[in-house]
Amino acid sequence: MRMVDVIEKKRNGKSLTTEEIEFLVKGYTNGDIPDYQMSALLMAIFYQDMTDTEITNLTLNMANSGDVIDLASITGIKVDKHSTGGVGDTTTLVLAPLVASVGVPVAKMSGRGLGHTGGTIDKLEAIPGFQVEIPNEQFIRLVNESQVAVTGQSGNLAPADKKLYALRDVTATVDSIPLIASSIMSKKIAAGADAIVLDVTTGDGAFMKNIEDATRLAETMVRIGKLAGRQTMAVISDMSQPLGEAIGNSIEIEEAINTLKGQGPKDLEEMVFVLGSQMVVLAKKAETLEEARQLLEEALHSGKALAKFKEMIENQGGDPSVVDQPEKMGTAKYVTVLPAKESGYIRNIHAENVGIAAMLLGAGRKTKEDVIDYTVGVKLHKKVGMAVEQGEPLVTVYANTEDITEVEQLLYNNIEIGEEVAEPVLVRKIIT
Ligand code: URA
Ligand code: CA
Repeated sequence: MRMVDVIEKKRNGKSLTTEEIEFLVKGYTNGDIPDYQMSALLMAIFYQDMTDTEITNLTLNMANSGDVIDLASITGIKVDKHSTGGVGDTTTLVLAPLVASVGVPVAKMSGRGLGHTGGTIDKLEAIPGFQVEIPNEQFIRLVNESQVAVTGQSGNLAPADKKLYALRDVTATVDSIPLIASSIMSKKIAAGADAIVLDVTTGDGAFMKNIEDATRLAETMVRIGKLAGRQTMAVISDMSQPLGEAIGNSIEIEEAINTLKGQGPKDLEEMVFVLGSQMVVLAKKAETLEEARQLLEEALHSGKALAKFKEMIENQGGDPSVVDQPEKMGTAKYVTVLPAKESGYIRNIHAENVGIAAMLLGAGRKTKEDVIDYTVGVKLHKKVGMAVEQGEPLVTVYANTEDITEVEQLLYNNIEIGEEVAEPVLVRKIIT
């Protein structure tokens, strides 16, 4: 088989066979197929799309390109949750201990930040001592003993995706539905959970900017998950504005702690209950979503979920006293409250550019080599639909550089004030 023939076939809009897909995933992973040929194929896929059969073949080949984790030694139905990426998306930090506190085993593999989006693993590293790279045996032992552990992606999990993702990032082929679906699902399948809850974000801060594309991505991933023998469902959620109030690392850990105390932002809390209820039902710890939600609300208000978060921090070598003294994670040197320049209603908070503002402060990486500053970030005092008076606090900037002119400009330009608008609907669709 020759790669050039495979490229030509896809360029001409034809479907690739099972053998052709196996050939290209294997060949690219082991280095036989060079980047320039794979780049040409990725661009052909971007324009010509793939059938469901092709996407499924691609996903399964990528999932089997490296280690496939066996979680069979963990008792119970293991449920994983995955978000397609967002700004200020603090859900995993709250969900993992909350769901674990009602007895659902959560073996969570999380990622680092990408572009303007943050990553759970980076946020957890804001906690002094917290170990995100833990050996597989320890990971499994912790989930068995304590129902929860969060780790970074193991080195050899879906290496085909790792290599392809890096190439897509620099060839303008990231935002393709067949490529995103196969990338995410290959990792989820290799990570070994029995059931998968997908949070497919849509809007300005997400990869899928509109509901039609988000729906197709969600339906595609759910279908692949089921074909691979995993119970899979998706929630399509709004990411037109950032989730919650905090966008950063230590300030998002603090936001998660407040939410576990029942004092978090309402949208974040709602998202956690919606996704958590689905996880509890899939794990068969409740019969209905209503019953599941009630269990979770009790765990949150009784302090059980917060205690589980402390336990999780301690289990992974972190300092659990940050739960009561978040300042132990360090504080930014310059804290500036930006007042609203006019009165009116918040019409829009452009998530992507607010994410970029946080990244410019040092909360995210501009290049792979950048080192994250855990203490910096942005905290929103107003969300879309809320009234604001001129001079009232609009947003707080946490910085370690004195000059924040660029970030200040970016924030003012991306928080629109004007006529009254409705609050955005948080949960747009459920796909089962
Ligand atoms: N997240 C992934 O893991 N892969 C993609 O392609 C996009 C988002
Ligand atoms: Ca947040």
